[in-house]
Amino acid sequence: MTEVTVRPFRDTDAEPLAELVARCLREVNGRDYPADLIERMCAHFDAARFRELATVREVFVAEQEGRAVGTVSRDGNKVYTMFVDPDCAGRGVGRRLMRHIEGLAGADGHDHMETGASITGHGFYQRIGYTDVRVSDTVFGINYILRKPLP
Ligand SMILES: CC(C)(COP(=O)(O)OP(=O)(O)OC[C@H]1O[C@@H](n2cnc3c(N)ncnc32)[C@H](O)[C@@H]1OP(=O)(O)O)[C@@H](O)C(=O)NCCC(=O)NCCS
Repeated sequence: MTEVTVRPFRDTDAEPLAELVARCLREVNGRDYPADLIERMCAHFDAARFRELATVREVFVAEQEGRAVGTVSRDGNKVYTMFVDPDCAGRGVGRRLMRHIEGLAGADGHDHMETGASITGHGFYQRIGYTDVRVSDTVFGINYILRKPLP
């Protein structure tokens, strides 16, 4: 596999990322959530939302051969909007994105990382070292809050 690099969001990423997230939601999260909820989430994560998020958080893009294959964002030690292109799933892109933002949070002096996981993403976070701290409810359903100590 060609190398995956992680770089900050650019304005021109907004449309491809919205398209990636919609495919992810329909093809991957759609196994765990009803179709009407998935469509509401697709509408929420449109291109305008990505541009808006980029003004309040650090949004990152995983790129391979010039193409966006995943995204994650962070606000300090909090993780948001982690999505990997379903065609690239299981190849370490998600782990690579998380390593990137964990490194930044650690360098900022945070001693742990915190994320909110969907039913679909829960096992991924556990696999990369996160442990459950509580469960919360959101407009998009159940959310597992997990943490991982940072070195
Ligand atoms: C969850 C998601 C981000 C994982 O991305 P990915 O690039 O496929 O993950 P990686 O290849 O880096 O996987 C890292 C490890 O986690 C495991 N893993 C990945 N997804 C998993 C899942 N849903 N459940 C359990 N383990 C999982 C992999 O097998 C791998 O394990 P290994 O150490 O044995 O190799 C991706 O499937 C996705 O975008 N899902 C839909 C959106 C979503 O749920 N996002 C999560 C935020 S709520």
